[in-house]
Amino acid sequence: MADQGGVIGFYSPDEEPQPWKSRLELDLPEFRFEPLENVSDVHCVHYALVWNPPVGFLNQFVNLKAVFVLGAGVDSLLRDKTLPPVPIVKLSDAGMANQMAHYVAYGVLHFHRRFGEYRQFQMEQRWSPILDISSAGQFPIGVLGLGAIGSVVARQIARLGFPVLGWSNSPKQIDGVRTYVGEDDLAELLRESRVLVNLLPLTHKTENLIDRSFIKRMRPGAFLINIGRGRHVREDDLLESLEEGLLSGAMLDVFDEEPLPNESPLWRHPNLLITPHVSGITMPQIALDQIVKNIQLIEFGETPRSLVDLDRGY
Ligand code: GLV
Repeated sequence: MADQGGVIGFYSPDEEPQPWKSRLELDLPEFRFEPLENVSDVHCVHYALVWNPPVGFLNQFVNLKAVFVLGAGVDSLLRDKTLPPVPIVKLSDAGMANQMAHYVAYGVLHFHRRFGEYRQFQMEQRWSPILDISSAGQFPIGVLGLGAIGSVVARQIARLGFPVLGWSNSPKQIDGVRTYVGEDDLAELLRESRVLVNLLPLTHKTENLIDRSFIKRMRPGAFLINIGRGRHVREDDLLESLEEGLLSGAMLDVFDEEPLPNESPLWRHPNLLITPHVSGITMPQIALDQIVKNIQLIEFGETPRSLVDLDRGY
């Protein structure tokens, strides 16, 4: 195992270090746990557990064996071109998939059962049943991205009785889900879906994917749920498409700039539901199971699970 004195360092602007420290010191007693901002000796740091570290911060730790990202998305870390040349490991699901499936279920039901309109009617004390709703079976849901999270989301939405069409970069088979791969198939999925759910990783290929021309390929009057990254969507194009009725509404958890600035028109648009990047919160205990297991694998000279592929960018 590790030399005495090896350090597992921690950096996150969002998370308290204590739960991580207690568990790691218990399961990996041969390591010390230290916050990376005030580590006693940069040479002792063998593993770094990080969320959104500043660019250039990690390359001072010259004896790192791996970097663990405390989330599923690695886009912000990979923007740092000075990262040390060590394996980067992301979380796989870690309790997020189920939460995100619930988030999507809420959004799909909100749009399908017209809860936005009922909320408005309630404000006006208006009893106004909307009777021309389609059955769930006639309300297809498209899911872009079928990785550790997207596959769970697709399966759970299918269980609610909605036809689910899922698209991914590599072929996938999921019970109850019509799966597609590649550009031609995306066209069919976009044409059919009443609600499109974005769960793609953010890479140079997917940045700004959901722009005006993309929205024009979607079924007229469809809804969008974005729980990928804000930079997948051109926010100006989204607003314009809502104004023109190309889109009927959207539920957004992620934004180009976070926190969403006060002056953003997205806040006030009546057909938008806005949440502050909470659709899937990292559960430290589940994340720690994966991290401890992966550190043990690396210490035994084996390959960790959920390794980030730097060429693909996720
Ligand atoms: C959150 O956005 C994550 O990538 O885990």
